[in-house]
Amino acid sequence: MTSTPRARIYRGTARNLRLLAGKLRQGELVAVPSETVYGLAGDALNPRACRQIFKAKGRPHTDPLIVHIHKLEQLATIARPNPAALALARKFWPGPLTLILPKQDVVPAVVTAGGASVAVRMPAHPLFRRLLELSGRPLAAPSANPFGYVSPTTAAHVRDGLGSRIRYILDGGAARVGLESTIVDLRDPARPRLLRPGAIPMSAIGHVLGKVIARRSPVAGNPGQTQIAPGMLKRHYSPRTPVQLHRKLSLAQVARAPADEIWLFLKRPAGKLSRNVRWLDARGNLKGAARRLFSRLRELDNGKHAKIHLELAAGTGLAEAINDRMRRAAAQ
Ligand code: TXA
Ligand code: MG
Repeated sequence: MTSTPRARIYRGTARNLRLLAGKLRQGELVAVPSETVYGLAGDALNPRACRQIFKAKGRPHTDPLIVHIHKLEQLATIARPNPAALALARKFWPGPLTLILPKQDVVPAVVTAGGASVAVRMPAHPLFRRLLELSGRPLAAPSANPFGYVSPTTAAHVRDGLGSRIRYILDGGAARVGLESTIVDLRDPARPRLLRPGAIPMSAIGHVLGKVIARRSPVAGNPGQTQIAPGMLKRHYSPRTPVQLHRKLSLAQVARAPADEIWLFLKRPAGKLSRNVRWLDARGNLKGAARRLFSRLRELDNGKHAKIHLELAAGTGLAEAINDRMRRAAAQ
C-alpha cells in the first residue's frame, strides 16, 4: 500500500527547527520560507534527495536547482568563485541574489542538469538560515510550486500546490520580497549577464562590478528538451486564467468590458470602483506591489474570471522584475 503524504505546517520553534534539520540530513524534503519565495529544500549533496525535488515539483531534469549556503566560506566548496562573484556576495548576501559559477565536483549532476555551472545563493530569511546552520548541509531549493505555476509566497500556497506530495512545510510568514532572486551569470567575470531580474537591480550590480550588465532575453523553451539557456522558459509563473497586459489601465476601460473579467491595477484608482477592480498596492509602491503580485494572481486565478487584466509597472529596477513576472504570466 502506498500512502500519500499529507503536508504538515510547522512553526519555527527551536524544537521544530531541530526536527526539520534532522529530516533534511536524512535526505527528506522540507519546504522552507525565504525572503523571496518559499523553496522546496533538500540536501544538495545527496542526489537521491535532489531527484525527489524534481519529482515532487514535476520539474524536468533539464532545469537546474539553486544551492543555498549559510556562510561565505561555503561558496568555494560548491563553486569556483572569481573576484567579481566575491564582490557581489560581500555586498548583497545574505539576500535575493543568485550567482552562476563553475561548479565543484562534489555537486551532483542532478543539481546542475548535468552542466558545468552551479547556481548559488545565501538567503536572508532567519528560519531558512537556521535550518542551513542546523542541518550543516548546503540545500538545493527551487520555488516550492508545481512546475510552471505561480511561485508560493506563504506556507498555505505551498500546501495548496504540493500538500499531497511532501510532508514538511516550515512557516516563516509571508515572503518579504515576493519575487524570486536576481540571477547573474558570472562564469565569465568579464561578461556578466543578467538571467532573471529580481529585487536587486541591474544598476546596483553594475555599480559594484564597475560595468554595464547585459540582459539575456527569455527564449521560448520546450521543457522536454535540454535547455540551452536554463531558467529562461518563457511560460512560467502562469495562472490558468488567460492574462492580458496593459501599459496603463483606466476605470473607463473597465466600464466598457464584460463584467466577468477582473482588473488588477498597480495602485488604487481614483473614482467609483466596480466589484471587478483590484490593485497591488494602494499607493502604487513597487515594493508592496512586488510582495503581493503572486498572492493576488493566485486569488484571481479561481476559475471565476474569464480574463485577468494586469497593469505593468512603470520605471526600472524593481519595476522590471515585476513586469518580467507579469509577462511570463501572460505568455501562451
Ligand atoms: O529566490 C529564489 O531564487 C528562489 C528561492 C527559493 O531561493 N528559488 C527559485 O528557484 O526561484 P527556481 O528553481 O524556481 O528558479 C531558479 C532558476 C531556474 O529557472 C533555473 O533554470 C536557474 O535558476 N538555474 C539554476 N541553475 C542554473 C545554472 N547552473 N545556470 C543557469 N540557470 C540556472
Ligand atoms: Mg521556480
